[in-house]
Amino acid sequence: MKNGKEIISNCIFSQIDLHREYSGVVPEIASRAHLEVINDLIDRALAEAQITFGDLDYVAATQKPGLIGSLLIALQSAKAIAYTLRIPLIAINHLEAHLYAPFLEGREFFFPFIGLLVSGGNTALYHVKGIGELTPLGKTVDDAVGEAFDKVSKFLNLGYPGGPVIERLAQKAREKANIFPKILSDTGEDDYRFSYSGLKTAVINYIKKHPDADQAEIVYSFQERALELLVRRVLTAARKLKIRDIVVAGGVASNGRLRSLLQESTRDDENIIIPSPLLCTDNAAMVAGIAYHYYISGKESELTIDVSARV
Ligand code: KG4
Repeated sequence: MKNGKEIISNCIFSQIDLHREYSGVVPEIASRAHLEVINDLIDRALAEAQITFGDLDYVAATQKPGLIGSLLIALQSAKAIAYTLRIPLIAINHLEAHLYAPFLEGREFFFPFIGLLVSGGNTALYHVKGIGELTPLGKTVDDAVGEAFDKVSKFLNLGYPGGPVIERLAQKAREKANIFPKILSDTGEDDYRFSYSGLKTAVINYIKKHPDADQAEIVYSFQERALELLVRRVLTAARKLKIRDIVVAGGVASNGRLRSLLQESTRDDENIIIPSPLLCTDNAAMVAGIAYHYYISGKESELTIDVSARV
């Protein structure tokens, strides 16, 4: 990253093919694959950017949250680079990095905004007030929304990851009925909880009971209910807190139906900001990008910092 804005290389080693046969991420396989590719990936990133180690001003890596084995490999590698080159190490909260992704595409970074993070491991809503200042408003009480897409897809044998397959299949639904009930109807309170385990179970039970039902219509109704809760929560937060800018990031943010539901439901003075699909899913540019702001404000990490599975 250059100046926290310009991506000069963004190399991704996708592990999707390694985990496909298990229909989900296997932690041991993930960390071993990280270890196998990390040195080559670092070399490739430098080569594509046409720079060498000596050109680096700081090095950043995700410190939390995530799978401990995978986090360790990246953070230890970053520590080794920082120590050897005597440059600052910036340890980053992965969720904060996701919310920075839309600011890698020519948009000026600003505060405050409402941040919705929707991925395979997290569904969380934040009031983002500054660098490192994320006030949690609510999160899922059970499954993450992406996890529900993956599990429904697994049950229907549609493939992995489930999100993109379900999105495509839902577009083919002829009958657009609400088969499944609305999740967590509004109580009138500031309720920012999310929940996806009940919807997932309702879908699975429905399929067991109606084995010949049209799959496209089932996943259509599942997707509508899953996304409707996200839209409702994010708009409630924005309106209660009187914040007009809303950032939505993470793998599920690449869902086109979510993008149109958000656009349809917002008022003219509300602004929905979503990164392009490549930057919605996990990438290193967003980590280096948010880290730049820590770097220029002198907030570097100690080399003794440890990884953490949770935020
Ligand atoms: O952020 P991400 O790449 O990885 C982490 O979970 O950290 O998100 C992956 C998740 C998976 O659960 C995947 O099914 C979901 O994002 N996803 C989608 C779509 N594309 C990816 N969910 C719904 N619609 C999509 N188009």
